[in-house]
Amino acid sequence: MTIEPEVYEAATWAGAVAGLLAERLRTNPSLRVCLPTGDTPVPVYDAVVALALAGACSFERATVVLLDEWVGLAPGDPARCDTRIRTGLIDRLPAPPAALHVIDADDPSPEAAAERHDEAARDLDLVVLGLGMNGHVGFNEPGSMADSPTRVLPLTDASRDAARARYGSRAVPVAGITIGMDRILAAREIWLLVTGQRKAGILRRALRDPESPDCPASYLRRHPSLRVFADDAAAGPMGR
Ligand code: F6R
Repeated sequence: MTIEPEVYEAATWAGAVAGLLAERLRTNPSLRVCLPTGDTPVPVYDAVVALALAGACSFERATVVLLDEWVGLAPGDPARCDTRIRTGLIDRLPAPPAALHVIDADDPSPEAAAERHDEAARDLDLVVLGLGMNGHVGFNEPGSMADSPTRVLPLTDASRDAARARYGSRAVPVAGITIGMDRILAAREIWLLVTGQRKAGILRRALRDPESPDCPASYLRRHPSLRVFADDAAAGPMGR
């Protein structure tokens, strides 16, 4: 299936995506939504918080499911995905979501934590994703299949390098837990968020090259309700 990105100027992109998320919450207050961390959604979460504070949407009856997590970081570490989703979104909302499912990466058995999180990742209305520079979605790294389950997996050097700036002198974890491609593709709707010129090449591969495990984001094109929200820079020649 050929998917055209929905392209916005950088200045309006986050507000547009946040506005749509607010609309989903109004239409379905019990929305079960899976959210990513990373840098891409930061301005979207800022805009969603502003809308929630203005009374334009509420997570009060919604369930938020975290997309992925590093293994081996101490609780409260600012680089942890659970810390980032709390400080970037959840703790700033006027009312918390009815449920927040983070990933218990402190479990001595990360495999058991992944298994539990897989239960939380069932029956999702909406999965919001960022795009890795190597084509990963969540931590579904290159080599993942469309039916890859929620699991613990070793991270590629590319993913670890991309995160290095957040770690300073600390070692970047070597493993992560991610919701699987199977659960992502089973959601009712998927939104892929992509910004910045550096993502233009991988976005083009994800949307235009033949589907391949080399670029797990390319599997998303199988989904009948995939929407890709890109800014001008990321859309590059695919844009307007
Ligand atoms: C984060 C996640 C990752 C990121 C991706 C892009 O929860 O699942 O797949 O979405 O690595 O990261 P940024 O947005 O920092 O470019």
